[in-house]
Parts: sequence; C-alpha cells; structure tokens
Amino acid sequence: MPEALIISALFPDCAATACRRIGRSTAGLYPQELSLISKAIDKRRCEFAAGRACAREALGHLGYAPMPILQAPSRAPLWPEAILGTISHSHTWAGASVARAEQLAGIGLDIETVDRVTMNIARKVLTGAEAAVLHDLPADEQKAFLALLFSAKEAVYKCLANAVRVHMGFHDAEVRKAGPSCFEVRMSPEISQACPACELLTGRYFFHEGCVFTGIALAA
Ligand SMILES: CC(C)(COP(=O)(O)OP(=O)(O)OC[C@H]1O[C@@H](n2cnc3c(N)ncnc32)[C@H](O)[C@@H]1OP(=O)(O)O)[C@@H](O)C(=O)NCCC(=O)NCCS
Repeated sequence: MPEALIISALFPDCAATACRRIGRSTAGLYPQELSLISKAIDKRRCEFAAGRACAREALGHLGYAPMPILQAPSRAPLWPEAILGTISHSHTWAGASVARAEQLAGIGLDIETVDRVTMNIARKVLTGAEAAVLHDLPADEQKAFLALLFSAKEAVYKCLANAVRVHMGFHDAEVRKAGPSCFEVRMSPEISQACPACELLTGRYFFHEGCVFTGIALAA
C-alpha cells in the first residue's frame, strides 16, 4: 500500500483529495489510459499511474466508481460531467483534488521538488516585484522561496485554465507569501478583465520531504 500524505489542508472542505508516493508500476491503469502513455519512459508511466490512482481515489470520496480519466487536447485531465479537478506529480509524490462544479469554478494543485527548481528560471517566471523580494532574502532561503512561487504559478495556471480563456503567462500572476501556509496571487489587469473573480486569489502551501505542495481554488 503506497504511503499516503494528507493534502486536504491545501483546499476548501468541498474538495476531495488524495496523495501518494509514486510507485514503480502502472498497475490499475485502464487500457485507454495506457494508450496515452504508450511512448513514455518508465518514470513518466509510473508518475501518470500514481496521478490517475489519486484522481480515482479522490473521485471515490465524492461517490464516483473507478473510471478511466482521459486527456483533453490541452493534456488537461477529462473529468466526469459537473466535476473539476487537478493532478500533479513531483518525482516522489503524486496528488489529485476534485470538486463539484457547483461549488468551485477552478482548482489547481502543484508539487515541485525544490532542488529541481534552479535559480536561472527566476528571470523567466518572476515579476520585478517578486524578484526584488527574492533577492532581499538570505541566500539559504532563496531556493525554497523561488520553488514556492514557481509552484504557486503552476497551480494558478491549472486552477484558471477553465475560467480564463485568454493566454496566461508567468508574469500574469504575481505571488506574495502571506504567512507560513498561505500565499496571495494578484492577476494582471488583462486576466482580471477576462475573469473579474480571478483578480485576487489566496492559495495554501506546505513543504514536505524536499517538495513544495501548493493548492488554490476559485469559488463558484
Ligand atoms: C500544464 C502545466 C501547469 C503542468 O505542470 P507541471 O508542473 O509541468 O507538471 P505537474 O506534474 O504539476 O502536472 C502535470 C499534470 O497537469 C495536468 N495538466 C496538463 N496540462 C494541463 C492543462 N493545460 N490544464 C490543466 N491541467 C493540465 C495533467 O493532469 C498532468 O498530469 P498527467 O499528464 O499525468 O495527467 C505546465 O506544464 C505549464 O504549462 N505551465 C505553465 C504555467 C504558467 O504559464 N503559469 C502562468 C501563471 S498563471
């Protein structure tokens, strides 16, 4: 039995979650799902399988029997009608969260291995204000902070993918640490105009075993 980790603290109570350590097998995948990863290397196949297992477990908490979870052309998972959800995997952990569309308009989970986030991505993903905060931090805190901001932006992207139909770039989301387990995201005027409810969002995070876990939800 894979080791479980509780990620429900990242989301509102209406979301169902599951998280597990990534194993070494693709057991449990449906043939239709296996065909989505037929050309993938073993590592990717195991990550995909763990993500799908988490998704089925989370859906089970909402009363859904196990089912294949296929893929949209954007590569986003395809959920049952009236459900939205999110999947993420680092190299060690996979997780998923799902909710009823009547309760949430978007949900995003991201898991990043802190050591795999290199400082040279800062210029690509950080706004000027974020970069200034990063550079004011003691050197030994910078990497974890950058990983948190990067992960938060990935979670925001997944959360808003349905609600925002215009292109979003890393500089469209400005992330601010708002406490030991919360972050705030201010979206750019272009995105806020397309989705007024997205203007200011609050997400949650924690660090565990060298990974940062971030979650964010958009109210319905
Ligand atoms: C899609 C994306 C967010 C995936 O994130 P990642 O950190 O590379 O990988 P993760 O393991 O966290 O997530 C992968 C999962 O995301 C899901 N996913 C893939 N494409 C997606 C999309 N377009 N929308 C929502 N979810 C998506 C899938 O479930 C995938 O896992 P699977 O292929 O096993 O099903 C990332 O590749 C990306 O495009 N990032 C851009 C972010 C951005 O521009 N942000 C700007 C600020 S809003």
